[in-house]
Amino acid sequence: MIADAFLWLLNRTPSLRRALWRVFFDTLAARFGNVGWWTLMNYGYAEPEDTATAFPLQPDDEAERYPIALYRHVATLAPIAGRDVLEIGSGRGGGASYVARYLEPRRMVGIDLSGKAVAFCNRRHVVANLQFRQGDAERLPFEDRSFDSVINVESSFCYPSIDGFFAEVRRVLRPGGHLHYTDLRLAHELADWRAAIARSGLEVVFERDITPNVIEALHRDSKRRRDGGRRIAGGPFAAIADVFTGVDGTRIPSLLASGGMAYHSYLLRKPPAAQPVTAYAAG
Ligand SMILES: C[S@@+](CC[C@H](N)C(=O)[O-])C[C@H]1O[C@@H](n2cnc3c(N)ncnc32)[C@H](O)[C@@H]1O
Repeated sequence: MIADAFLWLLNRTPSLRRALWRVFFDTLAARFGNVGWWTLMNYGYAEPEDTATAFPLQPDDEAERYPIALYRHVATLAPIAGRDVLEIGSGRGGGASYVARYLEPRRMVGIDLSGKAVAFCNRRHVVANLQFRQGDAERLPFEDRSFDSVINVESSFCYPSIDGFFAEVRRVLRPGGHLHYTDLRLAHELADWRAAIARSGLEVVFERDITPNVIEALHRDSKRRRDGGRRIAGGPFAAIADVFTGVDGTRIPSLLASGGMAYHSYLLRKPPAAQPVTAYAAG
């Protein structure tokens, strides 16, 4: 009920959206800053034929296989090795750490609106060529054309202006660079989302509806999600944790299964000969 009220408030107050999400994720990071076993916050990805050994992971990464698999799915849509990579909305850093350790970028930077999440990441993920900084998706603290690839996983639904986000991605990407992008939307938001992608100035190289893969991942991961939620939010808060973590039978898996919500992945490309783009003037 409290979770539903929070989501209702967010949907009806776009002007407060950035501040509300910052408070929400700052609170999570402040309260659970020492919870080192929880490093990813997305709903995950599974191929129907997945087995535990579908792709190799080190033992310490195994528990978060399905959220890592979403990063693997989207990050491998185009080569990352040897490139300068930015993740926008890096959260608790497990995805950026996976990319930095397994996919061999030259340099990887994660930015997130939540300063407390960034502090957690810099303590938890000590990896060569990986760093985390605080930043806003609509005002990226980087020079034009600084990155070959941008990764964005289950974060853009929080942004007050999706156009501002795409304009900033275009600005910081080098010509020919890629946005590896995945997120979810309510069914009635899909047309607006597609229209924003179409006017972004980025070319659509690949698009896929991965809703069945996310449903499958949530189901396989449900026990870990439920148990993890109870380790950090017991008693009367356990039901709220179940809603946010997507435990079987709660709002997110139900909406995905009924068609009320969809999860898509994209590979978008900045045209090789794109004209310089001026910074988006966020309000
Ligand atoms: C659902 S979490 C996903 C985190 C991570 N990508 C993952 O998959 O584990 C969404 C993240 O987006 C971040 N975020 C929300 N609004 C943002 C903004 N305007 N700029 C940068 N990050 C933002 C939040 O702080 C949060 O860490």
